[in-house]
Amino acid sequence: MNAIIGQPISRVDGPAKVTGQAVYAAEFRPHGLVYAALVSSTIPRGRITAIDATLAEQTPGVLAVITHENAERLPYREPEKRPVVDPKSGEQLRVFQGPEVLFAGQPVAVVVAETQEQAGGAARLVRITYAVEEPTTALQLSDGKPTSEAWAKAGRPADAERGDADAAFGLSPVKIDIVASHAREHHNAMEPHATIAEWDGDHLTLYDKSQWVGNVRMEIAHVFGMPEANIRVISPFVGGAFGSALRTWPHVTIAALAARHVRRPVRVELTRRECFTSIGFRPLTVQRVALGAERDGVLSAIIQEATAQTSVYEDYAEATLEPPRTTYTCPNVRTQYRLVEMNTNTPCPMRAPGVATGTLALEIAMDELAEALGLDPLELRLRNYAERDEAAGLPWSSKELRACYELGAERFGWNRRPPRPRSMRDGHWLIGHGMATAIYHAERSSCSAQATMYANGTAVIRTASSDMGPGTYTSMTQVAADTLGLPIEAVDFELGDTEMPTAPVHGGSITMASVGNAVKAACEALRGKLKELGDGTDGPAALMRQHGLDRIDAQADAKPGDESERYASAAFGAVFVEVRVDAAVGAVQVARVVGAYDAGRVINPKIARSQCIGGIVGGIGMALHEIAEWDERLGRVMNANLAEYLVPVNADVMDLDVQFVPGNDTVFNPLGVKGLAEIALCGVAPAIANAVYHATGRRVRDLPIRAEALVG
Ligand code: MOS
Repeated sequence: MNAIIGQPISRVDGPAKVTGQAVYAAEFRPHGLVYAALVSSTIPRGRITAIDATLAEQTPGVLAVITHENAERLPYREPEKRPVVDPKSGEQLRVFQGPEVLFAGQPVAVVVAETQEQAGGAARLVRITYAVEEPTTALQLSDGKPTSEAWAKAGRPADAERGDADAAFGLSPVKIDIVASHAREHHNAMEPHATIAEWDGDHLTLYDKSQWVGNVRMEIAHVFGMPEANIRVISPFVGGAFGSALRTWPHVTIAALAARHVRRPVRVELTRRECFTSIGFRPLTVQRVALGAERDGVLSAIIQEATAQTSVYEDYAEATLEPPRTTYTCPNVRTQYRLVEMNTNTPCPMRAPGVATGTLALEIAMDELAEALGLDPLELRLRNYAERDEAAGLPWSSKELRACYELGAERFGWNRRPPRPRSMRDGHWLIGHGMATAIYHAERSSCSAQATMYANGTAVIRTASSDMGPGTYTSMTQVAADTLGLPIEAVDFELGDTEMPTAPVHGGSITMASVGNAVKAACEALRGKLKELGDGTDGPAALMRQHGLDRIDAQADAKPGDESERYASAAFGAVFVEVRVDAAVGAVQVARVVGAYDAGRVINPKIARSQCIGGIVGGIGMALHEIAEWDERLGRVMNANLAEYLVPVNADVMDLDVQFVPGNDTVFNPLGVKGLAEIALCGVAPAIANAVYHATGRRVRDLPIRAEALVG
């Protein structure tokens, strides 16, 4: 060990990214590449009755206009197992297989041309006539249906209870009963989704923006009814995704279908507008939270009911109700989950899916409960500290949340917070302090990795993972260099290719625990092989030369054991926020955020901090900016662009203080990590909402909080 783990090393892929050397999906240039443009439905529900593609077909450069009338029929072979990232019930959208329209923005045709401009221009000339049917475009809570059995098995039951929460709530001397909601949000990663498909006989290569190349291969094999072995998926760089590239969306199928149709490699790159309809989004969710407590603040009942939107063709459910079941100790907890089918595209995970938003409603309610009790909000959390995961009935593998509360409160200066709202002012600014707890389950999946040592003293590690931006290239290079005893410059890490050893989905904060431990295991196996050659005092390169070897390869699989039968595992955090609210115009500034996290061992504090900053900024967006403006008459997002869909900009991001408490959780994995991505988003939005209340005395429970809610 040369202690490279734990060092604040700069991103190893940084120079390639800032100099434009890093090649993203849309930038590959296979010979003969042509370009596609989608035609999307303009109605939310109905049938296509006629398509006139004459003008489009006559446009210079156009090679084909593909619709359900001339597209090949795809087998959509039943998969043996649904990929874990697909919804557990319903049926995926089958592009160009029939005239039905299920939502506005559904791809109904694709134009392929020699240039992107020719394709885009011709796409506007395709005339489609519809028979319009009455759509469902409103989130009617009364229309909510329970989640499926399959979802229940996946930990998202329609109903769950321990104790008798309603009875206990009725008997509680102090009660809070609120409704909170958050808007439909879109990932809006900088890099638009894109796929290039290239056929060579019955072999298909896909250059794709993906968080899981293995899933793209699996999904396309099932759609086209072909062996996985005939498909290669390449995705070396991903320019942000936040969950939007977990699934294999219809545009990937469209690229492959179009490429086979025109017998040329085809690129489909979604426009920003199409990124609102051709991939998923965080579903609009309305939640009731009822908390009952004794006068000393000890919780006696938690009831949380969530109603979320889904599409008419798939049920998507998320872990919204995990936080009420696991965050605090409480004998009586009841949760209820309902889905409302709407004529829209299917939602999908977006950073800390469900958990960030379940936490949002719960932590606003906790703030209100603290006020009703006359207790400090942090003190209320400490009085209800969960020493075990009471939902699973298991001890935590590690939990340093108390240390997070202490460190965060100390750095923030929480003990100087006056209890009464609207009691801090700086000129025309009202100042408020708020806090929230964050929790996100830590998981691990099986992963394989290959490590190769070359006679020039360098090593290359490969596994089919992804790096959507958290710094996987860098952290894995560190793990490998540390394990092999090599300087960081001597190690290359490669990912994003189905030809490499199998890796799990790059999501759910599992990458470090899953891929990291496979990298470590492969490097240990390689060290073992080197050891067999001799003592290696002159280094591995000299040893290999002595034996006349050009390279040595080692492969290893790393899998979780049965730890989850004995322990629950989660990352924890405490978030403290200071806001300044302009009393006259209602503008909110997030002046300071302190986030203190227990994520287990931190492999690289520099990129870990960077990842937390990203999560906190996402939380500022959730609290103050992000909302898809939905027009119920049209069934459309009206601000499907980055000019009108607001996200935080530099001026919205002020002083962010990210802290990690010491941790090393080796119960679930030898590296001692618990995962970091999602926890960074959790707790931020409710801490801001609570701070806004503390500043203004106005409780806003429907996010984002906009000036209109704070003036007048
Ligand atoms: Mo994340 S929503 O697990 O990509």
